[in-house]
Amino acid sequence: MRNQPAGHTGRHFLQIPGPTNVPDRVLHAMAFPTIDHRGPEFAEVGKQVVAGMKRVFQTEGTVVIYPSSGTGAWEAALVNTLSPGDRVLMFETGHFAALWRQMATRLGLDIDFVSGDWRHGVDPAQVAEKLAADREHRVKAVCVVHNETSTGVTSRIPEIRAAIDEVGHPALLMVDTISSLASIDYRHDEWGVDVTVAGSQKGLMLPPGLGFNAVSAKALAAAKSAKLPRSYWDWQAMGETGHTGFFPYTPATNLLFGLQEALRMLLDEEGLPAVFHRHARHAEATRRAVNGWGLEVLCADAREYSGSLTAVLVPDGYDADRVREIILDAFDMSLGTGLGKMKGKVFRIGHLGHFNDLMLCGTLCGVEMGLHRAGIPHRAGGVAAALEYLGALDAE
Ligand SMILES: Cc1ncc(COP(=O)(O)O)c(C=O)c1O
Repeated sequence: MRNQPAGHTGRHFLQIPGPTNVPDRVLHAMAFPTIDHRGPEFAEVGKQVVAGMKRVFQTEGTVVIYPSSGTGAWEAALVNTLSPGDRVLMFETGHFAALWRQMATRLGLDIDFVSGDWRHGVDPAQVAEKLAADREHRVKAVCVVHNETSTGVTSRIPEIRAAIDEVGHPALLMVDTISSLASIDYRHDEWGVDVTVAGSQKGLMLPPGLGFNAVSAKALAAAKSAKLPRSYWDWQAMGETGHTGFFPYTPATNLLFGLQEALRMLLDEEGLPAVFHRHARHAEATRRAVNGWGLEVLCADAREYSGSLTAVLVPDGYDADRVREIILDAFDMSLGTGLGKMKGKVFRIGHLGHFNDLMLCGTLCGVEMGLHRAGIPHRAGGVAAALEYLGALDAE
C-alpha cells in the first residue's frame, strides 16, 4: 500500500489528530511473531500492559483493554454502568460529543444534551446548575469529552468534578480521553473520574485497534445493578486481566506488543510530565504560527486550548478542505478535515504522539506554503513566530 501520491519522495507527514505517527520501535515490536495468548509468555505481556496503562491513567483502579476502536470503549462505559431509560447529561462540545450522544440514544438512554457553539468546552457552572435542578437524582451519569478532537478544545475536568461535588450529586462522571491520554495531563483517580475512555491511535503512538476503560470502584459497583444488555463489553471477565495476564477472548496480541514498547517510551524514558510539557509547548508554538498568519484558532477560551491539536478557521468564503487538498498534493502532508458543523470552515493540525520540534517545523512550513498556494489571505511570518517561541524556550 502506498501512503504517498505519485511522484512524492521522502516521508509522508501524517499530521491529522490521530491516528498518529507510529515510532519505528513500536512497529518493530508489533512485527514479533504472534504467540499463544493462553501461554505463560503472554501472561507477562498482559500483566505488564495493564500495569503500565494504570500509570498512564494515573489510577490504582481497574483497567480493561478491548480489541476495539475508541467507539467500542465508549459503548463499554455506557453498557456496563447504566440501565434502559437512565438519564445522562451530555454536552455538545463538538462532533465526537454528538456521536457519543447518538450512541447513548441508540442504547435506550434518555439524554439531556446541553447545546454548545463548538468553540468552548463544558462549562462547570452549567454542570452544577443542571445537577442542582435534578433533586430526585434522575441523572445517572455526566459524560464529557476531555479533548474535543473536532475543535481542539479541552474541557476542565477537575472543575467539572468540583461542580458535581459542590451540589452533592451522585451521578457517575465518564470522560472520553481518546485524544488527550498520554498527551494532555489527565488523572483518573485524583480527578474523581468513574470511567475513562481511551483508544490506542493517538497519544499512545499505536495504530488503531485497542480501546480502554479505566474504572473506579463506584463504577464497578454500578455495574452490578446496571441492566443494559452487554456481553462482549462486560467488565467482569476483563477485570481479571491485571492479575492473570489473560483475556476472556482473543486479544489483539501484536498491538499489545506495540503497547509494551510505547509504554516503555512514555513512562520509563520520556516520563509523563515531559510528555505533557512537550505537547503543551508544540501547541503553543502552533498557536503562535496561526496568530502570525493572522488567522484564528477555533478554541475561543485560552484556558481550554488543546495540547493535542489546533483547529484553524479559514476566512469566510474560503474552503478549508481545498487548503488540505493542495497541501496533500503539493507537500504530501495530511491535515485533519473539518468535521460535522465545521466542514470546510477549519483544518486541524495534529501535533500529538510521536513528534518533535523539527516535525512541527516541517508541519508549519507545509501549512504556510499551502496557505500561500491556496490563495488564503494571510500574513507571512507564522512559521517565524513559532521558531522564535521554540528557540526562546530552549535558551532558558
Ligand atoms: C474524542 C474522540 N472520541 C471518540 C472517537 C471515536 O474513536 P474511534 O474512531 O477510534 O472509534 C474519536 C476518534 O477520533 C475521538 O477523537
